[in-house]
Amino acid sequence: MVRKIDAIVLGATGAAGQNVVESLQNHPWFKLVALGASSRSAGKTYKDAIKDAIFFERTPSEDILNMKVQDIDKVSPEDYQIAFSALPSEIAKTIEGKFAKKIPVFSTASAYRNEEDVPILIPDVNPKHAKIVKKQQEKRGWEGFVCPGPNCTVVGLVTSIKPIMEKYGVKKVHMVSSQSLSGAGEKGIRLNSEYRKSVEMNVLPYIDGEEEKVIQETKKILGNIKKYIITPAEIKIGATCTRVYVERVHFESVFVETKKENNIKDVKETLSNYVSEPQKLQLPSAPQKPIIVFDDNNQPQPKLHHDYGGQVTLVGRLRKDPVFKNGLSYVVTSDNLDKGAGGGVVLSAEYLKKKNYF
Ligand SMILES: NC(=O)c1ccc[n+]([C@@H]2O[C@H](COP(=O)([O-])OP(=O)(O)OC[C@H]3O[C@@H](n4cnc5c(N)ncnc54)[C@H](OP(=O)(O)O)[C@@H]3O)[C@@H](O)[C@H]2O)c1
Repeated sequence: MVRKIDAIVLGATGAAGQNVVESLQNHPWFKLVALGASSRSAGKTYKDAIKDAIFFERTPSEDILNMKVQDIDKVSPEDYQIAFSALPSEIAKTIEGKFAKKIPVFSTASAYRNEEDVPILIPDVNPKHAKIVKKQQEKRGWEGFVCPGPNCTVVGLVTSIKPIMEKYGVKKVHMVSSQSLSGAGEKGIRLNSEYRKSVEMNVLPYIDGEEEKVIQETKKILGNIKKYIITPAEIKIGATCTRVYVERVHFESVFVETKKENNIKDVKETLSNYVSEPQKLQLPSAPQKPIIVFDDNNQPQPKLHHDYGGQVTLVGRLRKDPVFKNGLSYVVTSDNLDKGAGGGVVLSAEYLKKKNYF
């Protein structure tokens, strides 16, 4: 049997970190051997460190729940072969950089996303961007690299736009999000938190920094790569990001102006038939179909999203938009954790492993 790759999860106790842990459970290629978090959690068993806020869809095994959490400032990258980071961005820059000097780091954090030698990878959407990690290693003299995934709100948006862009070209996009509580991390899901109470039976009309990330990251992910340089896509993008009282899975209303004329039946087929590298390579975490399109006007819904799996993007209410020229509008659901955080970065690691980047 081939030996599995030893993995550490940094920020393992938070919302995204728990989802990484869940995604690594019984993984055929990666073996979870260590959990890292802050000094607040260090020394506790994983079960005790997370007991106030639990995000798991599938509870981890007793072995994992009984693992001792380590202080990430005291762990050494050399003891592992791969790291998954789900740290707050403020500290991710330093810690991820320290690990990437030695081993590959797959991150849910935004710390490195805007650097020109770093991809924002979604293997379903921009697999060609993966190669710039080689440039990163060369430029920085690192043995490893940092490979982040996007902001969780961006995932469903770009996954649904990519096939439309390939077929018709895209000029303008506007998106209005209704984002779930777990997207805010621990403060969103901890029952007695002030933040959670402020969203209860309510909608918060603003999420700090989110709209800028949607615009910037969408352009980069949909951009062209030539000789290790990504040129952002020339699309006009607007976004309004709101927080709603939904536990998990982001919902988005999307408005698109295509360059060429489109027709709804053809757009539906284009989205439904879309496959990319993870499907072709049959990666362990890849869904059979990355996008499912519904005719039923009552679909998709955050609450029902998991009937179709955590890694899929669900599209519904597809129709002509009367405001834009060649206008389309539709709604999307995407799991901010399975697809937007842990599951997404594990899929990126599978892709880079399969392509022999490490
Ligand atoms: N939530 C989502 O849906 C989502 C989706 C995509 C990306 N992200 C990104 O993923 C990252 C984590 O988000 P989250 O929602 O999981 O946040 P979270 O629930 O607040 O978790 C933060 C994690 O980082 C650890 N941590 C915090 N301060 C630390 C420090 N000074 N030193 C070491 N560890 C520290 C925490 O450990 P303790 O428990 O010990 O404090 C915890 O494990 C963020 O960069 C976020 O933007 C989140």
